[in-house]
Amino acid sequence: MQLGSTIFQVLFIHISLSATSLWVFAAQSNAPYTLRISCGSREDVHTPPTNTLWYRDFGYTGGRFANATRPSFISPPLKTLRFFPLSDGPENCYYIENIPAGRYQIRVFFGLITDPNLASEPIFDLSVEGTQFASLQPGWSGVDEQSFAEAIVNVMGTSVSICFHGTGHGDPSILSIEVLQIDDDAYELGKSWGDKFVLRPVKRLSSGTGKPAFDEDLNGTQWGGDRFWKPIKTFSTGDDQAISTENVIAETSISPNFYPLALYQSAIVGTDREPGLSFQIDIDPNKNYSVWLHFAEIDPAVTKELQRVFDVLINGDVMFKDVDVIRMTGERYTAVVLNKTVSVSGKSLKIMLKPSAGHAIISAIEVFEVIAAEMITMTDEVSALRIVKAMLGLPLRFGWNGDPCVPQQHPWSGVDCQFDSTKGKWVIDGLGLDNQGLRGFLPNEISELQHLQSINLSENSIRGPIPLTLGDIAKLQVLDLSYNELNGTIPEHLGALQNLQILNLNGNSLTGKVPANLGGRPLHRARFNFTGNDGLCGIPGLPECGPHLSVGAKIGIAFGSLFSLLIVLVFITCWWKRRQNILRAQKLAAG
Ligand SMILES: *[C@@H]1O[C@H](CO)[C@@H](O)[C@H](O)[C@H]1NC(C)=O
Ligand SMILES: *[C@@H]1O[C@H](CO)[C@@H](O)[C@H](O)[C@H]1NC(C)=O
Ligand SMILES: *[C@@H]1O[C@H](CO)[C@@H](O)[C@H](O)[C@H]1NC(C)=O
Ligand SMILES: *[C@@H]1O[C@H](CO)[C@@H](O)[C@H](O)[C@H]1NC(C)=O
Ligand SMILES: *[C@@H]1O[C@H](CO)[C@@H](O)[C@H](O)[C@H]1NC(C)=O
Ligand SMILES: *[C@@H]1O[C@H](CO)[C@@H](O)[C@H](O)[C@H]1NC(C)=O
Ligand SMILES: *[C@@H]1O[C@H](CO)[C@@H](O)[C@H](O)[C@H]1NC(C)=O
Repeated sequence: MQLGSTIFQVLFIHISLSATSLWVFAAQSNAPYTLRISCGSREDVHTPPTNTLWYRDFGYTGGRFANATRPSFISPPLKTLRFFPLSDGPENCYYIENIPAGRYQIRVFFGLITDPNLASEPIFDLSVEGTQFASLQPGWSGVDEQSFAEAIVNVMGTSVSICFHGTGHGDPSILSIEVLQIDDDAYELGKSWGDKFVLRPVKRLSSGTGKPAFDEDLNGTQWGGDRFWKPIKTFSTGDDQAISTENVIAETSISPNFYPLALYQSAIVGTDREPGLSFQIDIDPNKNYSVWLHFAEIDPAVTKELQRVFDVLINGDVMFKDVDVIRMTGERYTAVVLNKTVSVSGKSLKIMLKPSAGHAIISAIEVFEVIAAEMITMTDEVSALRIVKAMLGLPLRFGWNGDPCVPQQHPWSGVDCQFDSTKGKWVIDGLGLDNQGLRGFLPNEISELQHLQSINLSENSIRGPIPLTLGDIAKLQVLDLSYNELNGTIPEHLGALQNLQILNLNGNSLTGKVPANLGGRPLHRARFNFTGNDGLCGIPGLPECGPHLSVGAKIGIAFGSLFSLLIVLVFITCWWKRRQNILRAQKLAAG
């Protein structure tokens, strides 16, 4: 207990110290909270061209550091990474504490370990605040835009957890983590969607240009985050063309999304041969996608309303009718953004711009997957599990980092979860850590897991007493602590467990009388086993208990026994002496 909480405190102080100083730094200007970590680095790093600051590594739950190879030229030029071998558990996280609540762009660049002996390209999953937002695909390290994962997420509390989930294909290897605050209303999808979702960018295209760029390269403001824009010169060679301008574009860099001005200085337009534009991407079916389309009239030939009018269709359905950029903005060289969220059952998403006057035009396209945010596990129960983890001495391979129940694809092993719809939270209803080589103690805090119905800790080497507080877990039906090294007496309070059906305490070193309120229970069709405890007594099948004696009485008995032994010895000696004398007298008489 002592040891466990000290470790937590040290870890906590370490993390909060580092993060507090960063937060103070961010709060001084009216800048968004910005945190960049160079994973595996022991020193702060500054990278060109804008001298970006990457903090030395902190906030991680495990793993090791190694020299890194950048899979892509768009990865930040960092030299180290942190990787998480499977022996450190399937789940590992970064906890970033003391951050202001709000909306964030979270971005994780992946790294490859610089070591020819290690298999490269690990495949793993990522989650933020318990919601899985990315799964690496084989071959990712050969595709620039797959060298990182990004999520736009609401942070409700004052910390954020970013976790990596091994899938048995190599060790998750992380080059950098960015936690970039953006506007509270950024990428709002409309009222009906609320704020319980995470957005994963599927595609972000800047059309009519050949240069890949981050917001930073485009002189975007920090409140927009630091989006990566993949360039596209044509959707269909020969049927469309790229145009650009040096003119200043109005209505850019405004709340809530702060798109950089330069994004609107290039575009793709249709031609006389093919006035429309169409663009198709492969997607995962049966998900919701949010499509954001960017326009500005930059063609000197188009000066008035009605010269360029088109419909926007997504997978064949008209989403926006008669889009006329000049009519919407009032002027040329002015930006406008349209967004629509659609449910897609097929494997592709096709965006078509179909003109009724002139040719279609488009400056940029963003497509996001809309992921419902997971509900998390009750925080009391998570804290209790962390104490159980420390006190039982759970091996590293269990991991047990992040949230126990979510992402639902990656629950902690040994923990059974159930969704409590009245609380809107996950709760723990089972603990199955049988036969895991555990050598610790059972902490009293286990009773904070109030929804437990079953506990199986059989076949370990758990020492010490059975916690009295187990009797407080009212729903408990199965308690199997058999084959451990538990000692002391069975707490009478276990009798309070009205729902208990199976109680296995066999094969321990328990002593004393089985409490009467438990001893009688097997009569009511419950299955209890108390055998194999040398010191237990008092129910049928076990030895009878001796009378209860005080220390004084025990000393009395000891002295009494010693005294009796002395008397017997004296008696035997006398008898023997007397018999010798008689024998001698008989010999004399005979002789
Ligand atoms: C990383 O590379 C440097 C030399 O560039 C070397 O000195 C160091 O030992 C390497 N670190 C690891 C963990 O391999
Ligand atoms: C996106 O569209 C919805 C309605 O479809 C609208 O309520 C919302 O304001 C739009 N978001 C932005 C940032 O324009
Ligand atoms: C960003 O600003 C700098 C200095 O004002 C300028 O030289 C550069 O061309 C701008 N970049 C873009 C992409 O607009
Ligand atoms: C897509 O959105 C609809 C409407 O909000 C919702 O009912 C549905 O569950 C969503 N589908 C997925 C896969 O999230
Ligand atoms: C508990 O685990 C042990 C070892 O795996 C198993 O034999 C036993 O049946 C389990 N107990 C219950 C009540 O399921
Ligand atoms: C139980 O075992 C522990 C060591 O594992 C020992 O310190 C403690 O005194 C024992 N308690 C009883 C009541 O025998
Ligand atoms: C109780 O446990 C012992 C071993 O400790 C086993 O031999 C016995 O079969 C068990 N009794 C019942 C009723 O399960």
